[in-house]
Amino acid sequence: MTDTSGPAPGEPADLGIDDLPVRDELRGQTPYGAPQLDVPVQLNTNENPYPLPGPLVDRITERVREAARGLNRYPDRDAVELRTELAAYLSRTGGHPLTTANVWAANGSNEVIQQLLQTFGGPGRTAIGFEPSYSMHRLIARGTGTGWLSGPRGEDFTIEAASAAEAITEHRPDVVFITSPNNPTGTAVDAETVLALYEAAQAAKPSLVVVDEAYVEFSHRPSLLPLIEGRPRLVISRTMSKAFGAAGLRLGYLAAHPAVVDAVQLVRLPYHLSAVTQATALAALEHTDTLLGYVETLKAERDRLVDELRALGYEVTDSDANFVQFGRFEDSHAAWRWILDRGVLVRDNGVPGRLRVTAGTPSENDAFLDAVRELKKEQSA
Ligand SMILES: Cc1ncc(COP(=O)(O)O)c(C=O)c1O
Repeated sequence: MTDTSGPAPGEPADLGIDDLPVRDELRGQTPYGAPQLDVPVQLNTNENPYPLPGPLVDRITERVREAARGLNRYPDRDAVELRTELAAYLSRTGGHPLTTANVWAANGSNEVIQQLLQTFGGPGRTAIGFEPSYSMHRLIARGTGTGWLSGPRGEDFTIEAASAAEAITEHRPDVVFITSPNNPTGTAVDAETVLALYEAAQAAKPSLVVVDEAYVEFSHRPSLLPLIEGRPRLVISRTMSKAFGAAGLRLGYLAAHPAVVDAVQLVRLPYHLSAVTQATALAALEHTDTLLGYVETLKAERDRLVDELRALGYEVTDSDANFVQFGRFEDSHAAWRWILDRGVLVRDNGVPGRLRVTAGTPSENDAFLDAVRELKKEQSA
């Protein structure tokens, strides 16, 4: 492999990012990135621990082989077949009928969010999220030149409708992010709260409200998708990275009024979704029922983690996702390191006194529970 760590011959050794004419707001910042450490049990990035089943891998191979013959041509720029199948999946599972015109797809829901902020945010505009929440909302805002506002959450990490609506009324953001279930806390938001925030956002501006439902398939509550009916500035964002176990595919999508789908066409790169991506996602959608079967196993494992952590005396935030936030630790980074030293990688998201563990396979979860059981003994000794 080529060594990319050092300067090329003739280049100054001490040249850094800040010596380049980068945008002012990017100076001194650090990129997003969970540590990718090579440890036996990796429960830190909310991935699905189950590899894709053999018959699906075969179907992907078939579909991709077919697509490969046509790679001399650009792919379907509008991804019509894929959007039609995504609309069918949402109509079947989300409690609300949709058509192709309601759905848009991109390379991961991060790209969906980026396209939304490029379209509805940007320089001179602001977005709000209720933190702690998914840090990429803030980072994509930064990348698109959108100002960021940090809205409040309650002590129990839920969004309190009154104080959140007050923040919207006061700051009049152009884009409002509501993450349900929320990452890293696992908390879900009820329909009444979303409606209250939507009303506040419409009265204040009107602004676009994005409900990030990356983890909704793991929730005890139904999807908030039916709320888009009659609300043209409400967007639901989804992904195949979690419930579909396809984080490596990079496929995210949104459901909204067709006018929102038309609007993001103004910023999307032409042919942004490769023919290989479209073919792979279509194959995965053919196996939806099998993949959602794994979701049921993971929900049961998530509930087991919550119960066992509570029985050990940890403080655990209610979870509607495939991960669990737990604490409290005087020094959460030291606790993270202690668990890592036992071969289990969890996530320190910077929430004071808390760590987050992703539900893995039963044996991975056992390894995690053994580690935190030992940690508890150590701390109470
Ligand atoms: C709340 C939330 N939204 C979106 C994403 C991004 O997912 P994708 O892999 O679709 O880009 C994540 C990933 O962790 C997430 O936690």
